[in-house]
Amino acid sequence: MSAREAGRASRSTGRYFVETWGCQMNVLDADKMSGALETHGYVRVDRAEDADVVLLNTCSIREKAAEKVFSELGRLRPLKVRRPDLVVGVCGCVAQQEAEAIFARAPYVDIVVGTRATSSLPILVNRLRSGDSSARHTADVALREDSIHFPFDQIRREVGGAAKAFVTVIEGCNHRCAFCIVPTTRGREVCRPFDDVLAEVRALAARGFREIEFLGQTVNAYRDPGGRGLGDLLVAAAGVDGIERIRFTTSHPAQMTSGLIEAMAAARPKLCPYLHLPVQSGSDAVLRAMRRGYDRAGYLARIDAIRRMIPEMCFGTDVIVGFPTETDADFEETVSLVRAVGFDTLYSFAYSPRPGTAALDLAPDLPGGLKLARLARLQSAQREIQDARAAAWVGRTVDVLVEGPSKKDPGEWTGRTPEARIVNFQGHTEPGRIERLLVTHATAFSLRGSLRTSAS
Ligand code: SAH
Ligand code: F3S
Repeated sequence: MSAREAGRASRSTGRYFVETWGCQMNVLDADKMSGALETHGYVRVDRAEDADVVLLNTCSIREKAAEKVFSELGRLRPLKVRRPDLVVGVCGCVAQQEAEAIFARAPYVDIVVGTRATSSLPILVNRLRSGDSSARHTADVALREDSIHFPFDQIRREVGGAAKAFVTVIEGCNHRCAFCIVPTTRGREVCRPFDDVLAEVRALAARGFREIEFLGQTVNAYRDPGGRGLGDLLVAAAGVDGIERIRFTTSHPAQMTSGLIEAMAAARPKLCPYLHLPVQSGSDAVLRAMRRGYDRAGYLARIDAIRRMIPEMCFGTDVIVGFPTETDADFEETVSLVRAVGFDTLYSFAYSPRPGTAALDLAPDLPGGLKLARLARLQSAQREIQDARAAAWVGRTVDVLVEGPSKKDPGEWTGRTPEARIVNFQGHTEPGRIERLLVTHATAFSLRGSLRTSAS
């Protein structure tokens, strides 16, 4: 701990450390929990060893992710033995789903809090620290709506050089995809009032943020009580001075309506030409078994409709290989769809059975080796596509929103193009600026550029 941190900590209620895994929504939840704790006088530290409260913000989307919490808890155990007053908390999706299992496997855990309890977290922690052991009660895990109403000015956002901020618009998911645990861990959809979202966007612009990304498990299902949808939000946000870039994630293909596509076109050029649209499979039989609510032709028709309105649009997707009913022929349909669309990014996963999901009753889990072989084949097909698409950028001029020093080489800067491509470069700039660069090299995952004139 630095002397400055030590000074602040001595005046504080306590020191907290949060470790977070998983999706953007989890990252934003951690920023909300951090903000709530800081509002109650807690100070953030970077190591569990220096903290009075350690929170593990978990992910349970696949089995491996869910297991991580138990290995991390094992690592924390000696610390808790040395310092019994340390509060160890588990939050997020694993907490929501497996509170009893956590207390059984790691009895030294003090508190388990579900995905929607953000404002209430410091209150529970304080009750616990003052000796009220009922605060660890699993009843507190029950889904509540407090995170959707979390006061946005209390979210802990990195200060200084802020380029980009995430903005929750909808939480939960009303779909029931046969493989997915999210509806269980995050509950039914709840939308934020339109005016509240817009007030947050304006406040972010006033603080110097230039890019916003609207977040939700099914962000395009957003509808406020007055009937306004995501398209209205995009158009309204595009009218906010200072906001230069707008993104949203994750969209469900079945809810990519023509009205939304028209609004996306109307919000150009601020609306960035990159859309994450998870397809999961290219086979009609598998899509049906997955209960995705669209078929292959329907998905491709939506991609075409978007390209007709916004020809420069680039796409990313998620694919699951080895879903229980997937045959070799089904899998080949996925490879052919991936080639037909030409995605810029593809997140591919071997199917992982999740408790309480419908896929468990469909058919036995396929052998691990088969799933991994399919994964490797899909990834090598995508690699070819991605190499070719990346190479096409060499020699072009791009505008890059500077995010900060590159993680790999702190002597370099890193930022993104509107198409969400990472660009690394050297030269004089600072986070939050938009720089014009000439692309000199390309790999499947990032570009390298040389600084031209400043775009702004
Ligand atoms: N709509 C969500 C999807 C959440 S899960 C979103 O906001 O991204 C992210 C991805 O994980 C899914 O698109 C899917 O490809 C993958 N996934 C979900 N459940 C899975 C499982 N049981 N096994 C393997 N991959 C899974
Ligand atoms: Fe999961 Fe399907 Fe919803 S993937 S988050 S149940 S749209």
